[in-house]
Amino acid sequence: MDTRIYEVAGQLVIKGKGILAADESTPSCNKRFLAVGVEQTEEMRRQWRELLLTMPGIAEFLSGVILYDETIRQQTDQGIPFAKLLEEKSIIPGVKVDEGTGDFEGHPGEKITKGLEGLASRLKEYRAMGAKFTKWRAVIAIGENIPTQDLIEKNAEILAEYAEVSQDEGFVPIVEPEVLLEGNHTIEKAEEVTTNTLRAVFAALHEKRVDLKGLILKSSMVLSGKDCLQQADAKQVAAATVRTFQNSVPQEVAGIVFLSGGQSPQQATENLNEIVKLVRQPADWPLTFSFSRALQEPVLQIWRGDSAKIKAAQQAFLKRLKLNAAALSGTYAKDME
Ligand code: G3H
Repeated sequence: MDTRIYEVAGQLVIKGKGILAADESTPSCNKRFLAVGVEQTEEMRRQWRELLLTMPGIAEFLSGVILYDETIRQQTDQGIPFAKLLEEKSIIPGVKVDEGTGDFEGHPGEKITKGLEGLASRLKEYRAMGAKFTKWRAVIAIGENIPTQDLIEKNAEILAEYAEVSQDEGFVPIVEPEVLLEGNHTIEKAEEVTTNTLRAVFAALHEKRVDLKGLILKSSMVLSGKDCLQQADAKQVAAATVRTFQNSVPQEVAGIVFLSGGQSPQQATENLNEIVKLVRQPADWPLTFSFSRALQEPVLQIWRGDSAKIKAAQQAFLKRLKLNAAALSGTYAKDME
């Protein structure tokens, strides 16, 4: 294995910076565009990503950006490929390599992630385009009689296989088993499912001898279900999240990054701020944000496809990055919003 991946993994979770997830698939990006009245075309998606990636000053807050297959092939107005633009800013370009979810046969309501077929050859192509790390997302829904142990183990196995291929091809894998926020489950249920999921993922990684020192975990925070009547506050979320990791994540992992999963931008930042305060440094893992929606939503709300709004939208992006950077040092406060 190429040991340079240790260096890349370390840079991605370097203190004080986070990773932007700009890797929405075309259908997901279109869904967000539709909600704010932006035309759903490849050119508008390109302009949107250009707005985010060309914002001056983002390198102070971002160690890496996760791109999507379409995005890594796109360029700025000036003809600079996005991956190259990021490198010039000393931000590490990466790419999401899964191909979305499909039904898990015999398990209604449960999904497994596709994309293992031909993965090694796709990775070779991404390497030539400048990507240094990859990401793969699995989803675990909580509901009546789900998740099943079968689903958890199947997704863990697939994640481990993806991670093995990624490391073999010289990439740092970001392994993302997302426990979904949708549902009326309690935070205790979310903790139980997340702990169980992470244990299964690390057991599968161990089986495949994936090198955890060159791997990043992307996790959900442990939260009450969106429709649960009793919503845990940020301190409870932080306690449950850190306890979950202490019970399931091996020490060697290069770092843990968070997805936002449908929380409001403010909620995600507030929770991150409390989590950071509970993490024992340097005994625990380096930890940071890797949000998509919680960084992009307020920006998209301003832009709405209007070129006259680009500057204002970019300012909103920078503000979100600054607030999350403050959370990384536990110094975020609501009145900074
Ligand atoms: O796969 C999902 C992204 O990496 C994170 O997105 O922050 O909107 O949950 P999110």
